[in-house]
Amino acid sequence: NKKVAEKQVLAGKKILVTAGPTQERIDPVRYLTNYSSGKMGYAIAEAAAQMGAEVTLISGPVSLATPNRVKRIDVESTKDMYQAVMDHFPSQDIVIKSAAVADYRPTIQANEKIKKQSEQMTIALEKTEDILKTLGQKKTSQFLVGFAAETTNVRQYGKKKLVEKNLDAIVINDVSKQGIGFGSDDNEVLILINDGSEIQINKTSKVAIARQLLTEISHRLEGEKQ
Ligand code: CTP
Ligand code: CA
Repeated sequence: NKKVAEKQVLAGKKILVTAGPTQERIDPVRYLTNYSSGKMGYAIAEAAAQMGAEVTLISGPVSLATPNRVKRIDVESTKDMYQAVMDHFPSQDIVIKSAAVADYRPTIQANEKIKKQSEQMTIALEKTEDILKTLGQKKTSQFLVGFAAETTNVRQYGKKKLVEKNLDAIVINDVSKQGIGFGSDDNEVLILINDGSEIQINKTSKVAIARQLLTEISHRLEGEKQ
């Protein structure tokens, strides 16, 4: 069995992965969300478990099966995800934030279904917690990995997030490209690491990207010990 024979490069490591979209409630029957399928985060969780890590997966609403040997915690809103991540963060060696977190939520969550009235309507929104930025401020020895979804100036915006959120690495997705990213089984990414290295991964399966990302991280963790 190839998977069993594989070198367990992440044995003894605790990894927290977030995946999927968040849902921000408008009223009892409606919410704001995004197109994230969760496939990238689930691929990372699965690959990490196969590489020997103890994996906690904090997941927004997705229709994917829980990977083997992964502890899954389901959340809906950004606020719930923030709480679950903060609860688990202190004990982790690696945190990978692949979830597509909502940037804004309705200021008011109506208890009753909102009835249609005028021709136009506006929903007031307020900013959500930036989970990743908070982790960057709080981190002690955790290797912190963010994702960036960009449609333009991909490298430049990604680099800015790496610095501003105090990350160890960022995985940048160009979401303007067809056939990769949201919903797809494939992706194409640029990984920037805070030691200055850059890894371009051309179009391949999300599982292959997950393995390569985790291998790069494991090398960096080994490096720290020397
Ligand atoms: N993220 C987060 N909490 C938020 C928003 C984003 O933890 N409220 C995380 C995402 O999980 C991702 C990273 O921040 O790992 C970058 O997300 P992205 O949407 O690309 O960047 P933002 O900082 O939200 O900036 P913008 O959407 O304006 O590009
Ligand atoms: Ca965002």
